[in-house]
Amino acid sequence: MPVSPFIAYRNGRLHHEEVDLEQLAATVGTPFYCYSKAAIQSAIRSCRAAFDPLGISIHYAVKANANLSVLRLMAAAGLGADIVSGGELARALQAGIRPEGIVFSGVGKQAREMGQALAAAIGQFNIESIPELELLEGVAREQGCRAAVALRVNPEVNANTHRNITTGVRGSKFGIPLDQLDQALAAVLRSPHLQLRGLAAHIGSQILDERPYRALCRLLARETLRLRELGVEIGHIDLGGGFGVDYGDGRTLAFETVAAIVEQELLPLSLRVAVEPGRSLVAGAGVMVSRVIYRKAAQPPFLILDAGMNDLMRPALYQAVHPLLPLAQHEATWVMANLVGPVCESTDLFQRDASVPASLGAGDLVAFQQAGAYAAVMSGTYNGRDLIPEVMVEGDTSRVIRRRLSQVDLMELEL
Ligand code: LLP
Repeated sequence: MPVSPFIAYRNGRLHHEEVDLEQLAATVGTPFYCYSKAAIQSAIRSCRAAFDPLGISIHYAVKANANLSVLRLMAAAGLGADIVSGGELARALQAGIRPEGIVFSGVGKQAREMGQALAAAIGQFNIESIPELELLEGVAREQGCRAAVALRVNPEVNANTHRNITTGVRGSKFGIPLDQLDQALAAVLRSPHLQLRGLAAHIGSQILDERPYRALCRLLARETLRLRELGVEIGHIDLGGGFGVDYGDGRTLAFETVAAIVEQELLPLSLRVAVEPGRSLVAGAGVMVSRVIYRKAAQPPFLILDAGMNDLMRPALYQAVHPLLPLAQHEATWVMANLVGPVCESTDLFQRDASVPASLGAGDLVAFQQAGAYAAVMSGTYNGRDLIPEVMVEGDTSRVIRRRLSQVDLMELEL
């Protein structure tokens, strides 16, 4: 069953919007990513419908899908951006995202990147350590300007998600430990080159449980009140992203749920609140289309695909499941199979004991769903493999929005 309403069988053939994916595969070559423009716009609309009425600002987490065509949709909708590198800054600006809507996160910002961001007059730096604060102070002094800063705390809230995408617990490299917060604040307040905007946090990704957000908001509200009593004006809270999407089991975390928690826990303190959704704006808009190369007999059989872990890393890194759809609709019996790629690694496994049509075999095409986020952006060229193309469909038209990077292209960069 298609998870996204923008994917459907028409006359037994899988379509993304109005585009026949098998026809597209014939022109683009497999494997490839395909995104629906309407699906992204629809996700943006639901996000805005939940957050706009409360005045909560939305900063798209560029890392989820940094293709310029995707970023342009965010810019056109008036969204800001959450970036983590000078590279993402360049992309966000190139796509037309307004600088004052850009928040710069990440634990390892370098002086050069800070300088670029200050020159571009971005809206806010989310600072994750005292040495980082000192470096930013120096760069701002050199450039004769003032950097707007939010202190990202490590709230020690367990987001109840996969351990590899949990960020707000003790022992995590992210955020300023709560017991160093006052020292960091003092450093901001005494510098003429830093301006305090408020507090920030991000507790993890693919979060389906609303309770960690409530715990986080309560903690941030408590800290705000404590600091205000000390005379420190906290006007702004950045809650990060992490809103979970449906990877086939029907579970999601609705934007409205998060908005309601913010309304109850933070807005009574007259705080301006921001969120940084990445996955929830793009995951559902994408599929990765791949062809079966072999069906290898075993119990259960292996379906060896032309896509590998270098193209879609999430299953290998997080045991993620991207539910599979055959491009040709099958009514017949479904059986178990292990879906694997061609890469020489045991972790090159998309899904063990996946349910597939009994007749699925060599030459057949399949689509991995929910592949719009943390998919193409995380792909690589291991095993001498191409960087696969990205396509965007709109109605019955399609456009290659990143061309294939072949080994010939790559070898040109080498001696
Ligand atoms: N803000 C900050 C500071 C972040 O670190 C992240 C994601 C986000 C916002 C956006 O989170 P989202 O709304 O997309 O969950 N590669 C992993 C996910 C890594 C998330 C990293 N940080 C995956 O494929 O599941």
